Amino acid sequence: MPVIKALSLKVMAGEVVCVIGPNGAGKSTLVKSVMGLLKIFNGKIALAGRDITRLAAEKHIDAGVGYVPQVSNVFGSLTVRENLFLSCRGRNVSDATEKVLAMFPELKEKLALTAGSLSGGERQMLAFARCLIVEPRLLLLDEPTAALSPLLVGSIFDRIAEIAARGTAILLVEQNALRALTISHRVYALAGGTNAIEGTAAEMLANPDLKQIYLGGRGR
Ligand SMILES: Nc1ncnc2c1ncn2[C@@H]1O[C@H](COP(=O)(O)OP(=O)(O)OP(=O)(O)O)[C@@H](O)[C@H]1O
Ligand SMILES: [Mg+2]
Repeated sequence: MPVIKALSLKVMAGEVVCVIGPNGAGKSTLVKSVMGLLKIFNGKIALAGRDITRLAAEKHIDAGVGYVPQVSNVFGSLTVRENLFLSCRGRNVSDATEKVLAMFPELKEKLALTAGSLSGGERQMLAFARCLIVEPRLLLLDEPTAALSPLLVGSIFDRIAEIAARGTAILLVEQNALRALTISHRVYALAGGTNAIEGTAAEMLANPDLKQIYLGGRGR
């Protein structure tokens, strides 16, 4: 049975689009499908006018799609430097690395450490840096702040806003929905494999029913 049934969404360059919805709504399935990791039975995925629906997963990176999965997003036994090198895909390593390290300066002191020894937040920064090294047009983020402290959540959200401001399109799946909306331009709420409701972040926040159902009540 298909997990996603009738879904339509778009993300523009420079835009953060947040996908919210209850557990099992199909959020991760959506992101994995866009990355070419799952079989698509029907429908179409296009990137800047190019049909990428049937493109093999490994070709998505060169096509301009970056993906940060919730777990297993770095090579734990390799150093930070090695993790970055592996992501360069033929680019000038020192130029590309320097550029992302300017965006994530906290990684500079950790270059010789194994990725497995980093904190959760640092590992997430490294996962972002690995994706950004090839300057994707579209960045897919599946719950990038899960299991991080509130302080780190704010820091990750600041980076996401910065990345978008440089022109990258960002599709953000988030459990920290209320905080995610503060950096999101538009929001899609999924339920049962379809987009139940969509609107601007301000519209979502102003709708008391939505807040109750999808954002976990008023108190959070
Ligand atoms: N490989 C699979 N085979 C069969 N069913 C699957 C598979 N992957 C996901 N599903 C089912 O598809 C539905 C959507 O899963 P998905 O992981 O996309 O949900 P989600 O919205 O990301 O949920 P969560 O908030 O818990 O991460 C679930 O009912 C899940 O059991
Ligand atoms: Mg999920």
